[in-house]
Amino acid sequence: MSESVFSQHSVAVVVGASRGIGLALSAALVKHPRFDHIVACAREPDQCPELQALIERSDGRVLGHAVDVTRAASVSALGQLLDRNGFRPALVLNAAGLLHKGRRLRPEKRLEDIDFEAMQAVFAVNALGPALVMRELMPRMAPTGKRVFAALSARVGSIGDNRLGGWYAYRSSKAALNQLLKTAAIEARRRFEGLVVAALHPGTTDTALSRPFQARVPEDKLFSADFAARRLLEVVEVLGPGDSGGFFAWDGQPIPW
Ligand SMILES: NC(=O)c1ccc[n+]([C@@H]2O[C@H](COP(=O)([O-])OP(=O)(O)OC[C@H]3O[C@@H](n4cnc5c(N)ncnc54)[C@H](OP(=O)(O)O)[C@@H]3O)[C@@H](O)[C@H]2O)c1
Repeated sequence: MSESVFSQHSVAVVVGASRGIGLALSAALVKHPRFDHIVACAREPDQCPELQALIERSDGRVLGHAVDVTRAASVSALGQLLDRNGFRPALVLNAAGLLHKGRRLRPEKRLEDIDFEAMQAVFAVNALGPALVMRELMPRMAPTGKRVFAALSARVGSIGDNRLGGWYAYRSSKAALNQLLKTAAIEARRRFEGLVVAALHPGTTDTALSRPFQARVPEDKLFSADFAARRLLEVVEVLGPGDSGGFFAWDGQPIPW
């Protein structure tokens, strides 16, 4: 960990900013004195009243942009938007993630629950999409100064920490995300000197993603999205080049792969 700070007038990009932790990260970045512009990406920014409200009260600092991480053209268009605006982000945070959706896409309890299409959908959002974000945005990040590319992973993606089993698609897609980030960190050392690439675990946070699974979570272990966002930004603040390729929890503690 290091103490270097982001440069003045930096640009941040948040992917998955429609709600939950991504929205809270965008709101926290508006209060951050070093970031002049926050590009807040959501699949349908116009349909997100909270994001729209943030954009309106940000005095032009938050720019909403439509990005679906599972569509390569959409992620490429984000790169082009940055180019058009002359933005070279010092911070990229990918918060897009998928655990459940409707009746067919539920975390598996046993082998028989494995469903090819559900798995494809989870891998597309949690691993393949972030890989596209890496491809488009890492080469466009600021060339000097403190720079962090981080994606929200999950402790359950840790192979070393897997004691309970279950959740095949989510766990393995986050493990794949971790491997993608680690691999990019190695390339970044060679190509983008000083860029920090990290996987982050926000802690169990009260969002739509965790809501069906909160019953057994003690109240003091369930974070608000605002709290998780604040703590994640604190971790990002102290990450230095020596931490690149690491997996860190909301409290800065390293998590085994
Ligand atoms: N909440 C927790 O307890 C917890 C714990 C560990 C890790 N995490 C991770 O933290 C991240 C944020 O989760 P959250 O709790 O804030 O979940 P959430 O409230 O369900 O938000 C998920 C976000 O991902 C976006 N998203 C989904 N599919 C997308 C796609 N194809 N393209 C672009 N964006 C897409 C959603 O956008 P739409 O509104 O358009 O669907 C939404 O902004 C996820 O990666 C999650 O895995 C969360």
